[in-house]
Amino acid sequence: MRIRLLSIAILSAAACFVFAQEQSKINLPQDKGPDKIDVSGYPAELQSAYKLFTSKCSKCHTIARPINTKMQRPEWERYVKRMMHKPNSGISDKQGKEIFDFLVYDQTNRKDKNPNAFFPALSDDEIAKLKAK
Ligand code: HEC
Repeated sequence: MRIRLLSIAILSAAACFVFAQEQSKINLPQDKGPDKIDVSGYPAELQSAYKLFTSKCSKCHTIARPINTKMQRPEWERYVKRMMHKPNSGISDKQGKEIFDFLVYDQTNRKDKNPNAFFPALSDDEIAKLKAK
């Protein structure tokens, strides 16, 4: 009996390890901004991409983070890939592409029109410094 309990404990610990996601343990300035976008004027396919974006990109940090970060198209492309490749991101290639299309449309039609309302992405060095604190 004891051995069985022990193996259950070991198995569940292993499962936790395997399914663990890399939760972002730091707070970025972007996290404190609004956590919604009014997409009522966006094309229909981007309105459904918005739903995918909010469900997938809020797993490890606030959804406010990407909503309030401004980046250029190539940076969004790099960033979506980087997020997809984090352990257990749960984002497929097809979903990543859909989210990327949404982010680029949103960048051009909302963020670029009012750039001062949004935050530039932190560099890898700045993020490493925050993590070290
Ligand atoms: C598996 C966990 C995970 C998922 C899912 C995830 N992220 Fe992240 N994200 C992180 C971590 C961790 C950081 C902190 C920086 C780092 O370690 O890369 C981060 C940071 C960010 C930043 C801040 C960049 C900066 O340099 O200021 C943005 C923007 C971002 N994520 C966007 C997204 C988008 C868009 C999605 C959905 C496609 C997403 N994230 C999904 C883990 C995740």
